Amino acid sequence: MKQDLIAIIDMGRDDNSALARKIRDYGVYSEVYPHDSSLESLKLNGNLKGIILNGTEKDGNELNLLKGFSSIAPITNADKIYSSCNLEDFLFKTAVCNKNWNMENFIEDQITLIRRTVGQGKVLLALSGGVDSSVVAALLIKAIGGNNLFCVHVNHGLLRKGEPEQVIEVFGKNLKQNLIYVDASERFLSKLKDVSDPERKRKIIGAEFIRVFEEEARKLNGIEFLGQGTIYPDIVESGTKAGKAVKAHHNVGGLPEDLTFKLIEPLKYLFKDEVRACGKALGLPDNMVFRQPFPGPGLGVRCLGAITKERLEAVREADAILREEFEKHNLSRKVWQYFTLIPDIKSVGVRDNMRSLGYPVIIRAVNTVDAMTATIEHIDWTVLDIITKRIINEIPSVNRVCYDLTPKPTGTIEWE
Ligand code: XMP
Repeated sequence: MKQDLIAIIDMGRDDNSALARKIRDYGVYSEVYPHDSSLESLKLNGNLKGIILNGTEKDGNELNLLKGFSSIAPITNADKIYSSCNLEDFLFKTAVCNKNWNMENFIEDQITLIRRTVGQGKVLLALSGGVDSSVVAALLIKAIGGNNLFCVHVNHGLLRKGEPEQVIEVFGKNLKQNLIYVDASERFLSKLKDVSDPERKRKIIGAEFIRVFEEEARKLNGIEFLGQGTIYPDIVESGTKAGKAVKAHHNVGGLPEDLTFKLIEPLKYLFKDEVRACGKALGLPDNMVFRQPFPGPGLGVRCLGAITKERLEAVREADAILREEFEKHNLSRKVWQYFTLIPDIKSVGVRDNMRSLGYPVIIRAVNTVDAMTATIEHIDWTVLDIITKRIINEIPSVNRVCYDLTPKPTGTIEWE
């Protein structure tokens, strides 16, 4: 391992991951550990230079913290103990850390680790085209090449315009026949026919996705490993807390027990912005690396009510126009999430001097830190005007465009 490590011991405070993030910003690698971890497990992840017991005031004085910590490392009189010191001084003067946390070292270390773990084995990866799975794919290609890596890209028909094509373009040349593209659009649409309840739609999409992936996995023989885009917040948020069991983090989601794989999760210690930096360092295109969040059920929850092909295509086109114009007007990196949705209603309009019925398209553009609350973005009228004109001119079934002014709460970010 190339990097120095500062271990943060979770003693019940809520700011463990914020502290780890802050230390990494100083160029020093840091990780959060449960209070009952062994010293040996800490040392596996880097050159252990210092340990921070991150406790609360109410836990009492540091003597109590030390008692709680003694299961990790019995404190001897030779150990140096510092309390409440300046973080930068602690990192560089006390623990004498090197600033060696950077993406180049991370990638190099991960490649070594993956090669050591996988050897000549075969790895399967569900490649959605989202940031995390794309970065895992790029890392695995670098580590083991395209011959032993099998990526399954399931197109559930609810992806944004151009997404399956981009996955094929970016990964096809390295993976060749090992990039398994499954166009399951019709299959998903028929399962979703006449289903209007959002939660049922979600369940159907999730369950069908696993079924398709599982069918493909069964066709491949001798797969030993499953690659996953688990990232650090998935792990920290599910709890390293004292006494709280670490939740089995999400996997491709309930794969049947007879499909047993060993997991390869190379991003599990990275925060989202670090995943993006890693993707950039691996040479992935910006529009893949800086992709905004997109819900798993995709356009399925943006085509409100029972999905029809006509409205699904309309919302896909409208979304593509919105993304194109946001890119053109330098809004794409400024706004956290922006998209269009289409309700299941028609209103009266005029087209070619004739009274006609058409669908409205609603634009939503929000900013947030953690998606728990959100504010709306104040988009310039001129830009909204350009987008509106393009949508009503280029999509014949749409005759109105509305802008959603609702913050969260009361509105959620998605409408379903
Ligand atoms: P809401 O609508 O609850 O969304 O304000 C918060 C964030 O979560 C995303 N979202 C989902 N992501 N599967 C996902 O993977 C889902 O079913 C889902 N529903 C909402 C949403 O896009 C927003 O970023």
